[in-house]
Order: sequence, then C-alpha cells, then structure tokens
Amino acid sequence: MFLLAAAAMLRTEFQALPLVPWPSRVELKNGSFTLDASTTLIAKGREAHENADYLRQSLRATGIPLKGAGKATESTIVLSIVKPDDALGVEGYRLKVGKSEVDIEASTSAGLFYGIQTFRQLLPASTYGTAATSGFSATVPGVEIVDRPRFGWRGMMLDVSRHFFPKEEILKMLGTMAEHKLNHFHWHLTDEPGWRIEIKRYPNLTKLGSLQNFDTFGKPIDGQNHGGFYTQSDIREVVAYAKKLHITIVPEIEMPGHSVAAIASYHELGVWNNPPKANPWAVESSNLNTEESTVKFYENVLDEVMKLFPSTWIHVGGDEVDKGPWKGNARTQELKKQRGLKDEDELQSWFIRQIDGYLTTHGRRLIGWDEILEGGLAQGATVMSWRGIEGGIAAARAGHDAVMSPTSHMYFDFYQGDPKSEPRSIGGHLPLERVYSYEPIPDALNATEAKRILGVQANIWAEYIPTSSHMEYMAWPRGCALSELAWSQKDARDWTLFQGRLKHDLLRLSAEQMNFRKLDK
Ligand code: ACM
Repeated sequence: MFLLAAAAMLRTEFQALPLVPWPSRVELKNGSFTLDASTTLIAKGREAHENADYLRQSLRATGIPLKGAGKATESTIVLSIVKPDDALGVEGYRLKVGKSEVDIEASTSAGLFYGIQTFRQLLPASTYGTAATSGFSATVPGVEIVDRPRFGWRGMMLDVSRHFFPKEEILKMLGTMAEHKLNHFHWHLTDEPGWRIEIKRYPNLTKLGSLQNFDTFGKPIDGQNHGGFYTQSDIREVVAYAKKLHITIVPEIEMPGHSVAAIASYHELGVWNNPPKANPWAVESSNLNTEESTVKFYENVLDEVMKLFPSTWIHVGGDEVDKGPWKGNARTQELKKQRGLKDEDELQSWFIRQIDGYLTTHGRRLIGWDEILEGGLAQGATVMSWRGIEGGIAAARAGHDAVMSPTSHMYFDFYQGDPKSEPRSIGGHLPLERVYSYEPIPDALNATEAKRILGVQANIWAEYIPTSSHMEYMAWPRGCALSELAWSQKDARDWTLFQGRLKHDLLRLSAEQMNFRKLDK
C-alpha cells in the first residue's frame, strides 16, 4: 500500500498524479481504466443524479455521451450516495479507479462533487476546454483515494466595487474555484466608489451609487467609466450556479465605514457638519451616521440581501472606520451620550450589535473584519482576521468563530513578483511560495480554541485591477496554493511536489482560458 507518508522513493509516483489539492490518502493500484465513447454512467440516488449531470457537462469537450446504464458494463462510472461515515465527513468522498469501473461514493452531494473533481483531474487537461474532440479516449491510472477537507471555509473574496467585474466573469471564477474545491465566494458588493447590488427599495443605490468613475483614493482611474451593478436577476443566476458548484456566496454590505457610494445616493445616511453640496459624491465622511433610521435603512437592505442569498453568514464589513468624523460631529456625540457609550469604538460596536441582532433574528450569522472586536464583539459575530492573525486568535479565545485572511499571506492584490516586471499593484509582496507556506491555525491556540478557526480565505481587492484578465492573473496560481492549504491535511503539503502538480493544473487553467501568472523559472 502506498500511503502519502511513504518513503521519498515513492514520491515521483505521487507526483505523476496531477492533483490539486492533494487528497488525504492516496493508494496507487495496478491497471488502469479507459474512458471512451463506450463508458456508461450509473447514478444511485437523487444527489448522484445531479452530479451525473454535472459530470456529463464537464466532459462535453470529449464528446463522450456517458450514457446511463442499469448495470455495470465493460466501462462504467458509478456515483453512489452512501451512509454517513466519519472518514468522509460532510464533504469527503472515496474514489476507486479499477479496470472496468470507477466508483465515486460520498454521503452528500458535495462529497460526490469533489470526488468528480478529483476524477476529472486524472484526465488530460484538454478535457477542461470546450473544443470538441472526436474519438476521444483517455487512460486513467488505477488508484484508491479517500479524501476530506481540513477546513469547512475555503474562501476567495472579490472586490467588485473599486472595479466592476461582469456577471460572466463571476461565473467563470466560480467554476475554477469549484474545480479547486474552494467553497466560499465572498462578494464585496459595496464600498466607496460603487454600490453593485440592486436594492429595489432604494433605487438610487445603483442609479447613482454604481456610477462613479473615481478610484477609492478619489482620483479618476483611467478616464473610463467603471460603473456597473448586478440586477437581482443576475444575482439569482449567480447564486443558482454557485449552488450547483457547492459554493456558498457570502455577500458583503459594508457598514458603518467605506460607505461613500451609499451616502452619495442617500445623503441622510451620512455624517454632516455642513449641508451637502450639489455634487452628490462630495460627502464629508465615508462613515454612516448612527441614527436609528440608518440602522433601519440597512435592515431593509439586508431584507433583500437575505432573500437573494441563502448563505448563513452575511458579511457587514466593519473595517477601517475612521473615528475622527464621529468625534467631530455634535449629533453623533449626542447619540453616543444618550446610549451611554464610552467612546467611538463602542459606538461602532453598538451599530454592529444592532445588525447582529437583526441577522440572528432572521436565522443568519454576522461576519465582519477584525475591527468589529474593538469596542466589544457582538454576541453572534464571526471575525475575519485580516490585519494579522491576532483578530482570529482573540475571537477564538473568546469563543467566537474566525476565518483567517491575513494580509501577510492572503492578500492577492499584493505583488507576486518583482514590481519592476509586474502590473502595477497596491503594494506588498506575496509570491506563490509564501501563500503556500501559510498555516491557518495559529500556534497560540489550544486544540479547543483551534476548532473555532472555520478556515481560510484569500482576498482580491480591486483598486489597481481594472480588467477581468488582470484579476485572473492576480488570482491564479495563488488560488491553487490556497486550495491546497485550505483542503489538504497539514502533513500532506509539500512545496516541491506541489510545484510539479501545479504544472498540470496550469494546463487545465489554460484549457479553460483562465489567465494566470506564469511560474518563475
Ligand atoms: C480590509 O482589507 N480593509 C479588510
């Protein structure tokens, strides 16, 4: 039996399996399976049928019809839902490739889906394309794999406010994320320069708030209009597609900072010492005020957001609130005093607590950037640790859940090579190897606290990313490294072996026309 922990002499054989992320347990077998026009497909159970449709779709470039069969033929793929089992957990699967049969079994639809992804990775990269081939056949090595993810939250965030990316690009990114077993797409829908989600009750949010062509620093970006937004119908389409891919979309509606677009659209949300100017974008502060009516406005927005997004977690931002404008505003100070709050940190907490209560009443959970810890964490809140790992540590110690997303390893807007030869970026230095080296569980946590770390997420902020192709370049192959550190067991990670497997992965990305940064020689 060849287990992963086997001696170095076996390494090359493992390297021959082009899998990213690497599975929990891999055993090579003699013989191989041939996938060709005669291969049939048997699906046992409703969830297996859904996945059968996905598998057929994903093999369309091969022209292989994968006809349904009542019983096994000379060459059959069998998808089965089995009883829950500790070895598989909720997202795990078993994949056996034998001479005449490929068996993929899991106790959930998601598990089967991931088994299919692993099987697909054993096929030639060309199958990831859309160019039809005739007379296709492929030989798949005999193998037995038992696999389950290390973390339940394997996320990628995209900022669509600083630059807008069309719906088609979001769908494309979701497809490639799913192939890498990433399962949370955090959609940063609102920020200073643009509000990107249609809210029927407040039409100005998109009529006006989606149209600014200034960057987050107030400068024209490149003379082009970067306006755009997703209609509710677009969002329903994206959410439905994500569901098929077992991806949860976590929407982010920023509050109480980063809110220029919202305030430009509805001046009554802002903090004002002087009357608003004729130019609606000339707001005095990017902070919302903390009036009850503003909280109510955001609850109304969240009503529509919750109808569109089934995600348990709703992200409310909470980062980088400049407390100065609240300090310098008499009405805000009056509200602070009335509520018996000590300082502006407590005022921010007050705001987040109102929203936490609202989301909880509706059966949802609030997640926010780590600044929501300041001034006291709301009861049900989950923390996304970005300024470092300390926010995650503090949350876990306080018995709250956390997702790790530190700038040091997870900010995919940072340079991935020498700035002289890279497209202009916000700064930083985050090459592929550094991403791969990230360990999401902080050493400082004991075993009980460590269970609070739900997982890990990379963030693509778009201040300096004006096009879809540039965004893809920032996402991949760092997203491949993310996939492995989020899914694979800790001791399964190996930078040298990963680089070998990554070469195959990049062939797949090429086949599906995904842009990516080429590997360093
Ligand atoms: C952030 O990067 N401001 C969360």
